Amino acid sequence: MEVLSIISQKGGVGKTTLATCLAVEALNEGKRVAVIDLDPQATATFWSDVRPDDDPAVLSIQPVRLPSVLKASEQAGTDLVIIDSAAVSKDIAYAAAEAADFALVPFKAAVFDINSVAQTVRIIKQVGAPFALVCTFVPPQGNETIEAQEIINDLGSDFCPVLIGNRKAFFRAQAKGCAVQEQGFDPDGKATEEIKNLYKYTCIHLNKYKKDAGDERKLA
Ligand SMILES: Nc1ncnc2c1ncn2[C@@H]1O[C@H](COP(=O)(O)OP(=O)(O)OP(=O)(O)O)[C@@H](O)[C@H]1O
Ligand SMILES: [Mg+2]
Repeated sequence: MEVLSIISQKGGVGKTTLATCLAVEALNEGKRVAVIDLDPQATATFWSDVRPDDDPAVLSIQPVRLPSVLKASEQAGTDLVIIDSAAVSKDIAYAAAEAADFALVPFKAAVFDINSVAQTVRIIKQVGAPFALVCTFVPPQGNETIEAQEIINDLGSDFCPVLIGNRKAFFRAQAKGCAVQEQGFDPDGKATEEIKNLYKYTCIHLNKYKKDAGDERKLA
């Protein structure tokens, strides 16, 4: 079983959107997927409540239960767990980072908040989890992404080459308990292409860093 965590101390940067779209992509690729929702706002769980399908399973839990729920997920034959975390709470960010084989840290290009990114990066580095920053809500034009990338390089963090655009399809799909890849949203469009590329990037990194049974990180 592999564990992907989506972590950012900043609110509204696309954590839940990425968690749910990547979960649907993994399902489409034939994986057994569970989303663990650590956010007290339970946005991913509400998404699941309005979702027309039962899959992926979404569990809303308190961080203290994370180790036992992960163990049960593994025993149940889950291939991939995606942990959706919450803004602001350091405890939740630590719990998500500790459990992760790999973490994605979304940030908004247009309102780049260096303090919150630096704080999130500090937490993940303390735990020692491999991670990459992923730029979301990327506007069609402008230099914000390049400027943000330069600052990120200074933070000594990996920058995911897949950019997630500011696209209405993400909002429309999310509101209906769906993902952009699904019928009625953007199955042949740019948003889907971005999610598919992010999924491929994530799989490569999960595979590279997957923790061995003895909890040692495998550095391929
Ligand atoms: N790339 C995008 N383009 C346009 N809208 C988006 C995009 N990503 C997310 N959204 C929309 O922006 C809002 C915030 O996204 P989301 O809930 O995923 O952020 P979050 O980081 O999980 O927020 P929180 O910190 O409150 O949990 C949602 O309404 C979502 O549908
Ligand atoms: Mg959220």
